[in-house]
Amino acid sequence: MKNIAIFASGNGTNAERIIKHFINNESISVSGIYSNNENAFVLTRAKNLNVPTMVFNRKMFYESEVVVDQLKKDKTDLIVLAGFLWLVPGNILKMYKNRIVNIHPALLPKYGGKGMYGSRVHEAVIEAGEKESGITIHYVNEKYDDGKIIFQAKCTVNKDDTPESLASKIHKLEHRHYPEVIEKIVMSL
Ligand code: GAR
Repeated sequence: MKNIAIFASGNGTNAERIIKHFINNESISVSGIYSNNENAFVLTRAKNLNVPTMVFNRKMFYESEVVVDQLKKDKTDLIVLAGFLWLVPGNILKMYKNRIVNIHPALLPKYGGKGMYGSRVHEAVIEAGEKESGITIHYVNEKYDDGKIIFQAKCTVNKDDTPESLASKIHKLEHRHYPEVIEKIVMSL
């Protein structure tokens, strides 16, 4: 069995899609949802789908081994960030070299970096008059939105798109592609 740990800070629509994608898979499973936000709705989604959860604060994440220890206990093979807003600390990066992936709601290297998440990304894309946007799945390193790109998919940005309508197009792309790309990566481990 290969195990996936999902890190998420908020709503968790991607996390839910990923859990459901692997629910009947006999060789890949989502072994835990990890969150820095005790009020994140992703935790409710996880509980409803019987996936164990772990909540941690800044000190636990950056100054202790408790998260790494839990990842080891869960026999984690791949870490998937799905709307997770903190940088991954060195101890986890070291232990999971090339085994941490993230999804970003734009076509990196544009519209990435610190503070670029959620609707801020879509606002910036629309403000710049871009004709297209999309999603980027990439490996995670010590910087925001910086690691090697694994997969991109595009959508059009129309004149009448709002950050909300663009977010909805992007979410559709994310839900369609992220679980499949994750499956391919896990199969190759
Ligand atoms: C997703 O659109 C993801 O690309 C974005 O957060 C959203 C989470 O949605 N991530 C970032 O902006 C990271 N820089 P969800 O909670 O519904 O899955």
